[in-house]
Amino acid sequence: MLEGKVVAITGAGRGIGRDIALLCAKEGAAVVVNDLGGSADGEGSDAGPAEETVNDIRSAGGKAVVNGASVADPAGAASIVEDAVRNFGRIDAVVNNAGILRDRIWHKMSHEDWQAVIDVHLHGAFNVSKAATPYFRDQGAGSFIHFTSTSGLIGNFGQANYSAAKLGIVGLSQSIALDMARAGVRSNCIAPFAWSRMVATIPASNEVEALRLERLKTMSTDKIAPLVAFLASDASAEVTNQIFSVRKNEIFLFSKPRPIRSMHRAEGWTVESIASDLLPAFRPSFSGLDRSGDIFGWDPI
Ligand SMILES: NC(=O)c1ccc[n+]([C@@H]2O[C@H](COP(=O)([O-])OP(=O)(O)OC[C@H]3O[C@@H](n4cnc5c(N)ncnc54)[C@H](O)[C@@H]3O)[C@@H](O)[C@H]2O)c1
Repeated sequence: MLEGKVVAITGAGRGIGRDIALLCAKEGAAVVVNDLGGSADGEGSDAGPAEETVNDIRSAGGKAVVNGASVADPAGAASIVEDAVRNFGRIDAVVNNAGILRDRIWHKMSHEDWQAVIDVHLHGAFNVSKAATPYFRDQGAGSFIHFTSTSGLIGNFGQANYSAAKLGIVGLSQSIALDMARAGVRSNCIAPFAWSRMVATIPASNEVEALRLERLKTMSTDKIAPLVAFLASDASAEVTNQIFSVRKNEIFLFSKPRPIRSMHRAEGWTVESIASDLLPAFRPSFSGLDRSGDIFGWDPI
């Protein structure tokens, strides 16, 4: 499905990204395997994991190169796209998968925890996308595949930094899809569920959370790759501005926020009439304090 294509995948040394790189290469793409190789919270660097992915692709007969830059650094992000063009002559798809976690309950979250997570996820996706855009425009085609999360789309405890970054990525993807449709460029998001190093850092403070983590352990990282490879291929030419989710053998399409209730008052609203008329009318439609696990409550099969 990807013969002749060049795909750059960030954070492809481990977890979901590694499996995306392996499948894209198997489907015929030449792959840039980017990974900084730091710890789960973004400290340090190690070329080892990205090199291992590249070695595995090459020994299976595929084409791949290593890139060890940080997506949080605009010059580093640009080097990922440059490596694709220098080694393989073009760039057809960008997979913004790299990520870190620094979970803290809101009142304990520091500016550093906020900044580090926004830098890697939101700024990282912006940086790599920005670098690929001139090539996509020139060739009148290109596919961006960004990683969001149900932590942003629905909610989760202790993840204000991550949720904000992941919903920011949805806004970024939507804007790119709208601005670049004329140029034949597509942009979509995926909210994955999979057992990876990142997820293993999430603490379980009670039985319900422990059960949720046990359920996550049954979801392998390779289940996400087919949808990514499809979105990178020409078979998905009509697909843009969508939010998908993958959870083991289930693939979901997410809705986008739209008005769900409206109330008109010819004489205009006062503070009192909002309290007396609008509140009781809207109350049944208010969203609850839902977390991802409340909405995805059933066992994956
Ligand atoms: N696993 C899940 O259930 C889940 C759920 C929702 C969203 N996601 C998203 O899926 C993506 C992949 O996550 P994963 O679970 O495979 O995690 P992972 O920790 O296994 O892999 C992430 C990779 O990104 C790399 N990375 C981190 N910072 C980087 C940087 N600045 N530059 C380049 N590489 C960097 C890491 O070294 C790591 O190899 C992330 O965007 C994550 O937020 C995962």
